Amino acid sequence: MKILIINGPNLNFLGRRKEEIYGQMSLEEINQRLVEKAKALDMQVEFFQSNSEGEIIDRIQQAADVYDGLIINPGALTHYSYALRDALESLSVPVIEVHLSNIFAREDFRQKSVTAPVCAGVITGFGWRSYLAALEVFHQWVSQL
Ligand code: DQA
Repeated sequence: MKILIINGPNLNFLGRRKEEIYGQMSLEEINQRLVEKAKALDMQVEFFQSNSEGEIIDRIQQAADVYDGLIINPGALTHYSYALRDALESLSVPVIEVHLSNIFAREDFRQKSVTAPVCAGVITGFGWRSYLAALEVFHQWVSQL
């Protein structure tokens, strides 16, 4: 099982950005934990991060037919990018949206996700463990546990 994990704008700044909200771990450290978890679950993971909406959409379009699922933290694009939503909607494989923070407990503009309705589900508020939980969901899904 091969999963693509996409991170959107400013998530390359994790560990240096609002640590009280997003935690102290860098994106590289989070990805390393996910590699270890994937190995334990006998899954493969690949990573992509970009600050550019267009690059993320290009990567999603290339992902069609290559991966069994996608995990995406769209960053602020979550709240307004209909273009990203359309790209996700065009995929036939399931997508899990994740957020480090609990977007429903934050500013009004963060409480709406325009991408969530085209995802299989959303995991929000568990810090880096939101990604870990998404990986486990994919694993259990396929193993039908
Ligand atoms: C975020 C929440 C977004 O509102 C914010 O713009 C981010 C990170 C999260 O993981 O909590 O960049 O997606």
